[in-house]
Amino acid sequence: MSTTNQSSMIKVGIIGCGYWGPNVIRNFAALDDVEVKYICDIDQAKLARLKRSCPQAKIVTDYREILQDKSIDAVAIVLPVQLHYAIAKDSLTAGKHTLVEKPLAFKSSDAQELINLAERQGRILMVGHTFLYNSAVRYLKQYISRGECGRIFYIYSNRVNLGRLHRDINAFWSIAPHDISIFIHLLETDPISVSAFGSSHLHRGIADVVFAVLKFPENVTTHIHASWLDPVKERRMTIVGSKRMIVYDDIDSEARLKIYDKGAEMQELPRTYGEYQYRLRAGDIFIPKIDFQEPLAVECQHFIHCVRTGTTPLTDGHAGLRVVRVCEAVDRSLESGGLPVELD
Ligand SMILES: NC(=O)c1ccc[n+]([C@@H]2O[C@H](COP(=O)([O-])OP(=O)(O)OC[C@H]3O[C@@H](n4cnc5c(N)ncnc54)[C@H](O)[C@@H]3O)[C@@H](O)[C@H]2O)c1
Repeated sequence: MSTTNQSSMIKVGIIGCGYWGPNVIRNFAALDDVEVKYICDIDQAKLARLKRSCPQAKIVTDYREILQDKSIDAVAIVLPVQLHYAIAKDSLTAGKHTLVEKPLAFKSSDAQELINLAERQGRILMVGHTFLYNSAVRYLKQYISRGECGRIFYIYSNRVNLGRLHRDINAFWSIAPHDISIFIHLLETDPISVSAFGSSHLHRGIADVVFAVLKFPENVTTHIHASWLDPVKERRMTIVGSKRMIVYDDIDSEARLKIYDKGAEMQELPRTYGEYQYRLRAGDIFIPKIDFQEPLAVECQHFIHCVRTGTTPLTDGHAGLRVVRVCEAVDRSLESGGLPVELD
């Protein structure tokens, strides 16, 4: 992996200035060692609005202008999912370190091709799985890795709201990549099978709501409820372990994590052989103090660090591919009316 000059400014171009793009621009622009040299969108009106908040950036409507500029080190792709593969391919081919929004691609074969291309080019490929840069998720990961929850029995996540609707991807592809990336990160393994039910109400063939069960090794069951047709915004995940149970509510800024000192175990009865009893335990609730930094800020800093040092990103192309494989399997299960689909 080639590294970039430690002392110089990293010059970045950002492609896509819709809903999420301005957040990416703001966070890169806030970094002292980064120059946002270009912002690009096919929509002139969006560019004109952004020009006021990022006056030093050159605005372009054709992303190829950014790729042709030899001084550009890195590109962030914040485009509709169908464009991720083609434009990331162009970016890596042009020798740019590339941050692609989630999900990395629509097909796992395309994601794999991007991984191979990045390796051949010696460039960083990173995917915007923003929740892995969230302080609460980082705390969760350390807590679970230390064995504080005991054996994980199951996890479920509700990611629902009214909006933002899409016509090109279903609700699962739109929002569940966050949950999949968190599950894989926490459990340190991939699901072995998925089964999903969904229904389309607004646009034929595009599921507005999806209920997906992801089975992980060692009898860990997870569930994702993804919907853009729900009255109340929820970003809540419940992790049930043998020693402790945790509710992670990303909207509750005062108490993102609530750790319940509750557990359930089978214990062998004393002086018996092979006789067991259930032991349920209910103790205190602990709310850890978490210093919260905007996850996207941490993500952008991490990307620049990887560009400078050649470090493999936490959410590299392989992490992106793992999430795409799950989304593909969920699509196959949805098409079959909920039949389980095995993952290799
Ligand atoms: N990490 C997160 O938490 C998070 C949150 C929201 C969205 N996203 C991701 O960000 C990406 C963009 O989502 P969004 O909600 O901002 O979409 P959006 O539709 O609001 O914005 C996409 C922008 O791309 C522009 N565009 C389309 N084709 C283009 C082209 N060829 N060249 C230049 N610009 C082009 C459009 O004009 C639009 O402004 C998606 O991949 C989405 O999954 C990530």
